[in-house]
Amino acid sequence: MKRLAAISALLVVCASYSFGADECVKCHQLLGDKPTQLFKKDIHASKGVSCADCHGGNPRSDDMERAMSKAAGFIGVPKGDAISEACAKCHADEAKMKSYGSALPVNQWKTLQTSVHGKLAVAGKEHIAQCTTCHGAHGIVSAKNPASPVHPLNVVKTCATCHSNAVYMRSYNPSLPVDQNEKYRTSVHGMRNAKGDTKVAECASCHGAHDIRSAKDLKSKVYATNLPATCGSCHSNAEYMKEYDIPTDQLEKFSSSVHGIALLQKHDLGAPACNSCHGNHAATPPGVESISKVCGTCHALNADLFSASPHKRAFDDLQLPECETCHGNHEIVAATNELLGTAPEATCGRCHSEEDNAKGFQAAALMRLLADSLESGEQQAQRLVDEAEQKGMEISEAKYKLRDARQARLEARTMVHAFDSDKFSDVIGKGLTVASTVHGEAQAAVDEYYFRRVGLGIATLIISVLVVSLYLTIRRIEKKQQKATVL
Ligand code: HEC
Ligand code: HEC
Ligand code: HEC
Ligand code: HEC
Ligand code: HEC
Ligand code: HEC
Ligand code: HEC
Ligand code: HEC
Ligand code: HEC
Ligand code: HEC
Ligand code: HEC
Repeated sequence: MKRLAAISALLVVCASYSFGADECVKCHQLLGDKPTQLFKKDIHASKGVSCADCHGGNPRSDDMERAMSKAAGFIGVPKGDAISEACAKCHADEAKMKSYGSALPVNQWKTLQTSVHGKLAVAGKEHIAQCTTCHGAHGIVSAKNPASPVHPLNVVKTCATCHSNAVYMRSYNPSLPVDQNEKYRTSVHGMRNAKGDTKVAECASCHGAHDIRSAKDLKSKVYATNLPATCGSCHSNAEYMKEYDIPTDQLEKFSSSVHGIALLQKHDLGAPACNSCHGNHAATPPGVESISKVCGTCHALNADLFSASPHKRAFDDLQLPECETCHGNHEIVAATNELLGTAPEATCGRCHSEEDNAKGFQAAALMRLLADSLESGEQQAQRLVDEAEQKGMEISEAKYKLRDARQARLEARTMVHAFDSDKFSDVIGKGLTVASTVHGEAQAAVDEYYFRRVGLGIATLIISVLVVSLYLTIRRIEKKQQKATVL
């Protein structure tokens, strides 16, 4: 069956060579040149595209001069942008592609020109990359064909011809690293790709093919806010990933995490995207030792405190990741006091109980109590400050001080990571002192308000009595005067 198919395919090719009226092919076949050799397996040959469709000329003339004359539109060997323009004659023309029965997209030339490879080459006369740079000129086959230079197993090499060439790349952008291929080969993607796995990510699956843009370009597939969707196009596609033994929930979990909300909804570029934790080209799950380093690049204080804490050795011995054990990786949520303590939803209870690691158990209970008391102390002070303010009392100084209590609460949340109840209670103590001072001042202001209100009531009463008696006095004088005039 297979052999039959091969023979019939060969016949189609032969037909277009020997029996067709294409004199370019006939004569060049006799010359035995390389382009014609390669063209035999070219997808264009099988679709009836001829030499003249790219090079121009008259394919019906067997006379060399006439066939390859300028008058017949012969352009010779195209150079620079003329190459891509020759391809675009068909590949940017939907009607023309349809006439060959093709439904391929027709945007390659347009997107290539606006891509980073559409910038001018150093010589300044043409774009950096032409169609043939990645696809070749003769012997072009479908990207799905293992012989194609852009097939998933070959594309890395194709990109690396330029991107691993330090001398070449320096002439464009000296700050651009040239280690992508090298790093890629150390990633899970790269190692599997080298073994023939066509489904893992390669250069084009993360960067695109014709629309490749600088990583700093908002439209780039690897721009921080677009990257999760790029990784997710495979990693959250359960059907695509079904032959692999890993979960497909990373994007979903990440999107609803503090990090995902900060990045994708608030466009906070300080929040991590997938590559902040996994690396760009070396994409691998961070190992047990490197996770805290990854988190620590942004949460430096937490990581430092953790490293000096009793948990450092304990977690190393248990071979547990330092941050992920309590916070998770993709689903990290805002940290609250709930994480702390001995209740079932707290993280501490997983390893500490009255029987096991009891010291930590007591510390956890105490720390939770302290954290809660600062939180409620701060809330009560805040409520009183608000009340005094509403009543129009001057309270700005106490209000300002309250910021120190809030600061202490934030500091305490970080100080948790020392896992030392003394250090923790020092910070909480600072906050509680401030909160109680503010509470006292705000209470005094509210009391003052009521005092003044009582004072005001008495004053009003006195004034009213005075006014009434004044009125009565005037009336009396008036009456006296009236009597006097009548008399
Ligand atoms: C009768 C033989 C003959 C025919 C017909 C013929 N060619 Fe050629 N062609 C040659 C020879 C011989 C050369 C190499 C000599 C030269 O460089 O001028 C050549 C050279 C070329 C080159 C390279 C030109 C360069 O500047 O290096 C191209 C491209 C080419 N032919 C395309 C075509 C196309 C397209 C057709 C049909 C429209 C065609 N040829 C028809 C014989 C032929
Ligand atoms: C799909 C378009 C296309 C077709 C079809 C095509 N060529 Fe070319 N050819 C090119 C381009 C583009 C170049 C420029 C060289 C490059 O970019 O690699 C080229 C270069 C050449 C050269 C110069 C030598 C070289 O290798 O650079 C010759 C000779 C040539 N073609 C002959 C032919 C012949 C003969 C045919 C038909 C059997 C043919 N070409 C079909 C696009 C085409
Ligand atoms: C930087 C390398 C590069 C350049 C330059 C390039 N391509 Fe591609 N092309 C690819 C890759 C990689 C694919 C594989 C498909 C994919 O991964 O999306 C591809 C796929 C294609 C396809 C299959 C359909 C599609 O769009 O996926 C066509 C047709 C194509 N290219 C035509 C062109 C044309 C025409 C040009 C010039 C205007 C061009 N290519 C320039 C890398 C390139
Ligand atoms: C005369 C029209 C024409 C010209 C000119 C032309 N092509 Fe094509 N090309 C086609 C057709 C038709 C197909 C087959 C489309 C299909 O299978 O759906 C094709 C297929 C391809 C494919 C395979 C796409 C895939 O993955 O299935 C690539 C790559 C490609 N062309 C690149 C080029 C390049 C590069 C040039 C210029 C050097 C070029 N083409 C010039 C008509 C043309
Ligand atoms: C002909 C050489 C060449 C080939 C082949 C090539 N590139 Fe490039 N690429 C460049 C040059 C030169 C630049 C730098 C442009 C600049 O910044 O001035 C570049 C820039 C880039 C950038 C942007 C870097 C940044 O953040 O500024 C990415 C991403 C990229 N290329 C990916 C690829 C991929 C993926 C492939 C393979 C499909 C590929 N390139 C093939 C030459 C090439
Ligand atoms: C798993 C996805 C992925 C793969 C596969 C991948 N890249 Fe990247 N690439 C990225 C990310 C993410 C960035 C950085 C974005 C940033 O800096 O914010 C990047 C950056 C780049 C840059 C800019 C310079 C740099 O190194 O930061 C170039 C050039 C580049 N990649 C080329 C390539 C080439 C060539 C390949 C194939 C060997 C490749 N990439 C494979 C995701 C990928
Ligand atoms: C083209 C599809 C595709 C894209 C895009 C892709 N990956 Fe992958 N990735 C895979 C496949 C397939 C595997 C192999 C699964 C395995 O290791 O069993 C894999 C493996 C991984 C692994 C190793 C998992 C393990 O435990 O073995 C990590 C980590 C990873 N990818 C992260 C990323 C990140 C981060 C991105 C985006 C920057 C990304 N991937 C983009 C397909 C993809
Ligand atoms: C805050 C850091 C961080 C971010 C952001 C992150 N990851 Fe991970 N990821 C990890 C850690 C840590 C592991 C290791 C889990 C383990 O070994 O138990 C992991 C594991 C993985 C794995 C292996 C399979 C699994 O689920 O355990 C894949 C695949 C993966 N991540 C993909 C992604 C993708 C895709 C994104 C973006 C949507 C992403 N990661 C964002 C830290 C992160
Ligand atoms: C690229 C920097 C970066 C990396 C790497 C990073 N984070 Fe974050 N993280 C942030 C930013 C920014 C926020 C604040 C998001 C917001 O709330 O707007 C945050 C928030 C958090 C929060 C919630 C803080 C709160 O106030 O409740 C926790 C918990 C957290 N990260 C833990 C981790 C862990 C664990 C890791 C490693 C697996 C990690 N982060 C890696 C930047 C990072
Ligand atoms: C044993 C459990 C545990 C471990 C391990 C742990 N944390 Fe925490 N983390 C907590 C608790 C409890 C809180 C405080 C919650 C609260 O009271 O609001 C917290 C709060 C946070 C916060 C928010 C407060 C702040 O400092 O901004 C960040 C960020 C954070 N952790 C990052 C990390 C990082 C990074 C690591 C690894 C170096 C790590 N955590 C390891 C339990 C843990
Ligand atoms: C993954 C298990 C695990 C988790 C979760 C955990 N611990 Fe621990 N912790 C340990 C181990 C193991 C030790 C060391 C054993 C020991 O010295 O008692 C330890 C030691 C401690 C110590 C030092 C006790 C001493 O001997 O001085 C304190 C304090 C402590 N943990 C508090 C906490 C708090 C608070 C939490 C929750 C935020 C927590 N731990 C969560 C495993 C854990």
